[in-house]
Amino acid sequence: MISSQPGAPAIEPISIRRPLRRDFVWGVSTSSYQIEGAAQVDGRGPSIWDGFCREPGRIANGDTGDQACDHYHRYREDIALMQSIGVNAYRFSTAWPRVLPKGRGAANEAGLAFYDRLVDGLLEAHIEPWLCLYHWDLPQALQDLGGWTNRDSADWFADYARLIAGRLGDRVKRFATFNEPSVFTIFGYSAGGQPPGTKELESFYATIHHVNLAHGAAVDVLRGVAGASIGVIHNLQPARPAHPTPADGKAAAILDDIWNRAFPDPQIIGDYPASLRAGIDLHRREGDMERICRPIDWLGVNHYSPIYAKAEGASPLGFAWAEVPADAPRSPIGWQVDPEAFRDTLLDAHDRYGLPIYVTENGAGAAEKLDAAGGVNDVERIDYLSRYIEAMREAAEKGADVRGYFVWSLLDNFEWGAGYTNRFGLVFVDYATQKRIPKASARWYAATIKAHAAQATS
Ligand code: GCO
Repeated sequence: MISSQPGAPAIEPISIRRPLRRDFVWGVSTSSYQIEGAAQVDGRGPSIWDGFCREPGRIANGDTGDQACDHYHRYREDIALMQSIGVNAYRFSTAWPRVLPKGRGAANEAGLAFYDRLVDGLLEAHIEPWLCLYHWDLPQALQDLGGWTNRDSADWFADYARLIAGRLGDRVKRFATFNEPSVFTIFGYSAGGQPPGTKELESFYATIHHVNLAHGAAVDVLRGVAGASIGVIHNLQPARPAHPTPADGKAAAILDDIWNRAFPDPQIIGDYPASLRAGIDLHRREGDMERICRPIDWLGVNHYSPIYAKAEGASPLGFAWAEVPADAPRSPIGWQVDPEAFRDTLLDAHDRYGLPIYVTENGAGAAEKLDAAGGVNDVERIDYLSRYIEAMREAAEKGADVRGYFVWSLLDNFEWGAGYTNRFGLVFVDYATQKRIPKASARWYAATIKAHAAQATS
């Protein structure tokens, strides 16, 4: 347990009544580019994010992931923090350009050795490693060949999966192929905001299909790991119309297909949503749907808040993004707080896909500073997490097969376009000194996990 700071308020864990499973997994999540830093160290090659961060105006304050949380050098301290919170699982991603600096071909031994050390450290601390192969940091050398618009990307990804499985599969058993494929394809290829930052509709449909092929190919590779439990991580957020009009309703349905269904439907059910088929057909070959729809063991759900769409005739995809309604409750960074939407999302995912569900990300952002006592009393985050965990419990009570929950995030980190301004961590990071300071929410999460364990054994 993390000890309280003098003067810190008492932290009441929420009481988690049945029916969360006795073996419920409590974890924290991170991703490579957001925390590792050491971008030019030990032979790591450039990723698409390294270049994108250097393009003027792309990232708040011109921030980059060059140093981030320096987790590459401080991972032992970070494992100790996890241990003090009491999590039994840690979800992280391997950086493709760290282990294959050119994306394919010669492996980088120093990069692989880092993940050896990380995994060994986690296992020594009795924390199960949950390894995600792709959290958006594509090697730049592959982008130069067209990245995900190139159908060969499925083979590149399978080879990378083989390298990781061969090196770590004796110790890592939980694998996810992709994190939030709809986010990096929408923002990378149609809406802007993420690399490569293009807006070409045909490329967008190509990337959807090729990422799906890459997922299927990697699942087949990972099946070679004895005892592997394989999943994929999707961001599922209800897509709502900005106004109760038929036109906005149609816009929201299109957004729903693109954001929530374009990947899990083909991967788990074996078909694309009807509204996407014409675009995808340009890239689909015989046998592709069988290649994509490989049996997996679990579905990872990342959830934060509902999203909104409105009709816009000129928009090539048939919708435009809309604002959260003015009267909606919001988190400190303006994201809507709606725990019932989370409960319903879990129930819908259960009904639609029928797989065990792990909530692989949920959390709240804020622009925080240390207070006079040198701590962070993040009561809003505690309130958000309490209400969302209760909503998850309700979903389980109504029948959703939810088996685990990972807070995003262990540490404050590089929040993509927002740079370091939005903090999501249970632990505050002073980027100038790299000092880690557990927030009140870290103590609250520790107490909550402990209370659940006590109930589960009683
Ligand atoms: C995502 C990513 C994370 C984010 C987190 C907070 O959902 O965008 O998986 O990398 O940092 O969700 O925005």
